[in-house]
Amino acid sequence: MTELLRWGIIGPGRIAEKFAKDLTVVPDAKLYAVASQSGSRQLADSFRVPSFYDNYQALAADPAVAAIYIATPHNSHYQNARLCLEAGKPVMVEKPLTVNAAQAEELVSLAQAKGVFLMEALWTRFLPAFRRVRGWLEAEEIGEVLMMRSSFNARMAFDAGGRHYDPDLAGGSLLDLGIYSLAVSQSVMQANPTSIQAQAVVGSTGVDECLAVNLQYASGAISQFSTMFRGHSANGMEVFGTRGKISIESWFFKAESAHLERYGRQPERFRGKFRRGGFEYQIEEAGRRIRAGEIESPLMSHTDSLANLRVMDEIRRQIGVRYPFE
Ligand SMILES: NC(=O)c1ccc[n+]([C@@H]2O[C@H](COP(=O)([O-])OP(=O)(O)OC[C@H]3O[C@@H](n4cnc5c(N)ncnc54)[C@H](OP(=O)(O)O)[C@@H]3O)[C@@H](O)[C@H]2O)c1
Repeated sequence: MTELLRWGIIGPGRIAEKFAKDLTVVPDAKLYAVASQSGSRQLADSFRVPSFYDNYQALAADPAVAAIYIATPHNSHYQNARLCLEAGKPVMVEKPLTVNAAQAEELVSLAQAKGVFLMEALWTRFLPAFRRVRGWLEAEEIGEVLMMRSSFNARMAFDAGGRHYDPDLAGGSLLDLGIYSLAVSQSVMQANPTSIQAQAVVGSTGVDECLAVNLQYASGAISQFSTMFRGHSANGMEVFGTRGKISIESWFFKAESAHLERYGRQPERFRGKFRRGGFEYQIEEAGRRIRAGEIESPLMSHTDSLANLRVMDEIRRQIGVRYPFE
């Protein structure tokens, strides 16, 4: 039997709890350690985790920990991931990998120099429905891609000091929600945009609360997305091609099914129901790569994360959102 891969969590907040739940359905992995710098034992106690630390350094130094999941606010990702990589620990970092491309370039160089695994936990890219969509696109089921659109609009109660609205925590709708639309656009187009146009409503704290983006790629294909903190919308996704259309119903970033329509033929529906909450797929992929001694995953590669961050840097430049620590 394969030895269990022992995971540690840095930043036991809301999403770390989902990670811990979904890890329970991954057969060759277990949650072994939790570190909370505020001293919160809640997650460690509710999952009966063997090791608890009141600082992140101690978890990174624990020789029994084989992989680390970072689930802190955006502004801390770079520093937390750096700590883990320097300790030689494989690391999976919540989205966005870092706040900007310059920070990510440093992490990627460090991962390469140390030969240690580094991956952005952009869970949508690992879901069965999205892998099916990629298969349809590669088989050119809808012909040449002409256009796509998606949205991720969700109402976040205003809290000037909370991680969504506080610029010191690298808040804003783009890094929090819009990143899913961008990552899917990049995956559908398999290229980087040659033109980027963004418009935003920047709120009282100085972060984007409503954002609309148009991307155009060298093929001529256009990708449009919107994201906001001020209200919900249908949050679906559609990709239009010369021979048909692929669509994912609301909410696209956690899709458990996808539809293929080829003009003049019977529509097809793919069902990819999660075994648990959906994080199990990225956890399994990270585990496979770590056991194989690889330093990245082709499903969310270093190049992919860097490209997304370069686009987000440019969007933020256009809308005038610069974090105080940049
Ligand atoms: N994949 C998804 O579906 C999804 C959904 C929501 C969020 N996320 C991502 O997950 C990450 C964490 O989000 P979350 O909603 O789980 O955040 P959260 O509930 O606020 O938890 C963040 C944790 O980070 C630690 N932390 C360190 N410095 C902090 C600071 N200055 N302020 C607040 N907390 C601090 C805290 O643990 P300590 O006790 O150690 O201080 C806290 O429990 C973000 O990158 C976010 O984008 C992903």
